[in-house]
Formats: sequence, C-alpha cells, structure tokens
Amino acid sequence: MAGVAIRDVHKSFGPVKVIQGISMDIADGEFVVMVGPSGCGKSTLLRMVAGLESITSGEIAIGERVVNELEPKDRDIAMVFQNYALYPHMSVYQNMAYGLRIQGRPKAEIEKRVQRAAEILELDKLLKRRPRELSGGQRQRVAMGRAIVREPKVFLFDEPLSNLDAKLRVQMRSELQALHQRLKTTTLYVTHDQVEAMTLAHRMMVMNAGRAEQIGAPLEVYQKPATTFVAAFIGSPPMNLIPGRIAQGGKVLAHDGEISVRLPEPRPALEGRDVLLGVRPEHFETCAQSEALLSPDIDFLELLGSDSLVYGHLGADKQGMRVAARLHISILAKEGRLPLRFSAEHVHLFDPESTRRIED
Ligand SMILES: Nc1ncnc2c1ncn2[C@@H]1O[C@H](COP(=O)(O)OP(=O)(O)OP(=O)(O)O)[C@@H](O)[C@H]1O
Ligand SMILES: [Mg+2]
Repeated sequence: MAGVAIRDVHKSFGPVKVIQGISMDIADGEFVVMVGPSGCGKSTLLRMVAGLESITSGEIAIGERVVNELEPKDRDIAMVFQNYALYPHMSVYQNMAYGLRIQGRPKAEIEKRVQRAAEILELDKLLKRRPRELSGGQRQRVAMGRAIVREPKVFLFDEPLSNLDAKLRVQMRSELQALHQRLKTTTLYVTHDQVEAMTLAHRMMVMNAGRAEQIGAPLEVYQKPATTFVAAFIGSPPMNLIPGRIAQGGKVLAHDGEISVRLPEPRPALEGRDVLLGVRPEHFETCAQSEALLSPDIDFLELLGSDSLVYGHLGADKQGMRVAARLHISILAKEGRLPLRFSAEHVHLFDPESTRRIED
C-alpha cells in the first residue's frame, strides 16, 4: 500500500494546456474522487498517474518513489476503465487470471488470488461463464476482479460505472464502498457524477478546465464551496446565485434590492461590496406573501414524489434571473407567483469578480 503525491503537475498536448498545475497529497488507504465536467482533464490526470500519459512538468510519486519516468507496469497500480472490454472467448476465471499469467506467476498463486477476488466480488459461482453469459453488473465486477487480483498499491478507476443503468450503479457504488473497506487500497476515482463523488469519496477534487477548484471532504465542499463553479457543480439543481450588494447593518440587497436579507452577523468590512448571493434550492421554503423574501414566477415544475423542483424567474423578464427551489411538498399550483423565504444562515457569499467564496 502507498499514498500518491501529485506535485504541481502540468500537461500540454502541443500548445493546448490541459492540466494547469494540480497538487494533492493522497494518503495511504484514502479514497479520492476527481469530479468535473467533460473535458476538464480528469482522465488525463489519472492516466498520468498510471503512466499512460507523459507529464509535461511537475512530479507524481507513488509511495516514496517518483514515478515520472517509470513504465506503467512498474508502478504497481491497477486501472479500471469505463470500457473495460473483457476477453469474450475467455471464462471469468481466465479473464481474471490473465494478467497474472502474463507476469508468469505460479499456477497455485494465481488460483489463490483469483479465488479470493472472486469471493470478495461474489463471482465464485460464475467462474466458468463467458462474459456474454453475465449481466452488466457481473461483467463490471469481473473487470474489478482483474484489478484486485494484481494486489496493487493503488487502484485507478476512470468512470467504471457509467455504462451501467441507474439501479445497478447504485448497487455497484455500495459494493465499491464495501470493497474499499475490506481492501483499504489507496484509490483514485474519476467521475463526472456528483452523487458518485459525494457518496464514495473520503476527499474529492472538483476540477474545472485543468485546475483543482477545491479539494475537501464531500460535506465540506457541499457546505462551503470555494468558488461559484463548485457551488453550481455540486448540488442539484445548482445553487442559485443572485447578484447583489452588502448594505449597511449587514444586509444583503439582491436582485436590485428586491431581495433583502439580514446576515446572521453584521459584516462592516464588506459594506458597499458587490456580491453574488448563493442559496441552495433545498434551503427555500414556502411562506405567506407577507414573509416572502422573493416571489418568483413559476416556469415549470418537476414532481419527484418525495419532493418537488420548482423553476421560476424573478422580475418581469422571463429570460432574467432564474431560480430553482426544492420543496418538500408534492402538489403545487403550476403557475403564478410562489412566495419563498430562506434562513440567513444558509446564505453563501461570493465575489463576482474572482468568483471565490467570501469567507464567513
Ligand atoms: N491525446 C490528446 N491530444 C490532444 N488533446 C487531448 C488528448 N487527450 C485529451 N485531450 C484534450 O484534453 C482535455 C481533457 O481531456 P480528458 O479526457 O482528460 O477529459 P475528461 O475530464 O476525462 O472528460 P470526460 O468526462 O469527457 O471523460 C480535452 O479537452 C481533450 O480534448
Ligand atoms: Mg474522461
């Protein structure tokens, strides 16, 4: 087992800078998820750790050893990709044993390792089957099995669940968690799915355009997003971000003063400053018109059963300021104005210029 250190790593493809200085110390046994939109550089970063992509500048270490110049096979890592093509003509057993056979391991050892991995993954009754005789989830587990039998120092996963249907993804997610609890192998896991990131990660790195916007425990990132990008990326629907200004006495006046909310504590240092007022959709609640902080016009509703998503806009302009609310009631009028309030404790403030969080 070993930790992984990523030190000011850059990657360019020709003139295009794809990774622009990322650093993170990943502890031995830690489960770290890299999450971000398509094209932000997640796979590139993971492939550099794997040795499948050269490093333009910076350093990557696995354990004590800098691996920049080390061949993938010498890095003691195992990678599972989104397209984890199994050998169709080989049985489950042969698929899992293949890598060890190539390494020239003794037969008895191969048998022991495959058997153990099969038990962990509950594949022991399926070892004789061919991939086409398996369900998607079972195939996925064989792909994991191929990685487990190698007993690597580090697991690298690149969107391993994205080919599965929603229900199977949830199941595999909990299996991955259980697997990690058993093996405690350092894991770097790439996904664009925020739920996967929130549920699997000890710590997550939210990436945007080749940079780490924030690194932290999932709840820390959710509760204190470092930038508006993170605020909008983590959480569904995204956090509402309404332009405003800090007035005297610790009031935030947003949407041309139509929304007025007193901060929990006065912030004299911030008075007069432009801000973005951030409120998560789930922090809105319905109220009487007299208590409302805002009354968006409803554009459309999504009734999810357990709760409802309400999308609306503020002011006369339909293309103007959009707001989304998640409410714990399931029946609502489909049109008209919806009086909403929120507690000042749930307010986030961001600098509109730098997009960074204004610290509490
Ligand atoms: N071999 C390459 N040559 C040139 N550009 C590349 C190469 N590989 C990746 N890129 C570019 O680098 C950027 C990052 O790609 P990468 O595959 O790391 O993104 P990603 O975050 O994994 O996205 P996705 O979620 O779609 O898998 C993209 O803009 C991509 O087009
Ligand atoms: Mg990718």
